[in-house]
Amino acid sequence: MRALEDRYGRVATDLRVSLTDRCNLRCSYCMPEEGLDWLANERLLSDDEVVRLIDIAVTILGVREVRFTGGEPLVRRGLVDIVQRTAALAPRPELSLTTNALGLARTAPALAAAGLDRVNVSLDTVRRETFLEITRRDRLDDVIAGLEAAQAAGLGPVKINAVLLRGVNDTQAAELLAWSLERDYHLRFIEQMPLDAQHGWDRAAMVTADEILAHLETRFSLSPAVEPRGSAPAELFRVDGGTGTVGVIASVTRPFCGDCDRVRLTADGQVRNCLFAREESDLRGAMRDGASDEELAERWLIAMRGKRPGHGIDDPTFLQPDRPMSAIGG
Ligand code: 5AD
Ligand code: SF4
Repeated sequence: MRALEDRYGRVATDLRVSLTDRCNLRCSYCMPEEGLDWLANERLLSDDEVVRLIDIAVTILGVREVRFTGGEPLVRRGLVDIVQRTAALAPRPELSLTTNALGLARTAPALAAAGLDRVNVSLDTVRRETFLEITRRDRLDDVIAGLEAAQAAGLGPVKINAVLLRGVNDTQAAELLAWSLERDYHLRFIEQMPLDAQHGWDRAAMVTADEILAHLETRFSLSPAVEPRGSAPAELFRVDGGTGTVGVIASVTRPFCGDCDRVRLTADGQVRNCLFAREESDLRGAMRDGASDEELAERWLIAMRGKRPGHGIDDPTFLQPDRPMSAIGG
């Protein structure tokens, strides 16, 4: 076993696998209304190719957690099969899914049976009009049904990821927390990052972690949770002294790059050592040219050596990556 270690001593054990860049929502902070130019089919990894690369990561490179992302991973036809084959690897990795939950009501039982451990659902509001405004689709009820099905199928603790947009849903933060606590969903707010396809991100417009906490404190009292943060990016707070918690992921204002244990594989088979990486390493091409597992593992190890110490969003020379979030995976 060889570790995916970078030049700063960080070891990647958490692999995020994007299974498609397509999505059935159009969140304004992610994609334009008309969608994007989707990756061409021949560039996408097949199910067998995805599973082969995950196998290499798990059995040769020490990856212990695999998270499936998109775009929207539930639109990938082979998802259940990919999950099942990943769960059969030894040592068996922890398996999770980041999803907008459209269609999850139908597939949650099959995903759980295939070996999926947990889901993270993206939900920014529990108001129908605001949901429509942010995602440009009137699908809030499907998301709620998906959350319930995930919990019933044992895909818990069910986590919710929320992004706050100034003037749109920022004043609904406490409402979303109350709603989540009532249902035992673990809510985490994420600072908006410069990863939108439209390149419209604006540091000044971003709702900061401090502002998120201030919104929550209008209704709740928060105290730091005792658990150490480790490589988990969310800072956890206990709500009103009870058992409920809320997380804040301050990717921009309090970066956690020094503790990063992640590496990403795009749906077209490129290793990205960081969300904000400007270079990728092409495993698909090498694989299709007949590279062995050992050779692919070697390429992956080399890709990690170029990982930068931090995202540098605050650096005046910062350049947003060409790939938007939907083609990288969260
Ligand atoms: N900044 C922060 N989070 C984002 N997401 C999508 N785009 C951004 C962004 N620019 C979130 C989604 C989802 C996860 C994959 O990342 O809401 O929860
Ligand atoms: Fe789809 Fe997720 Fe982007 Fe929203 S944030 S449009 S759910 S990929």
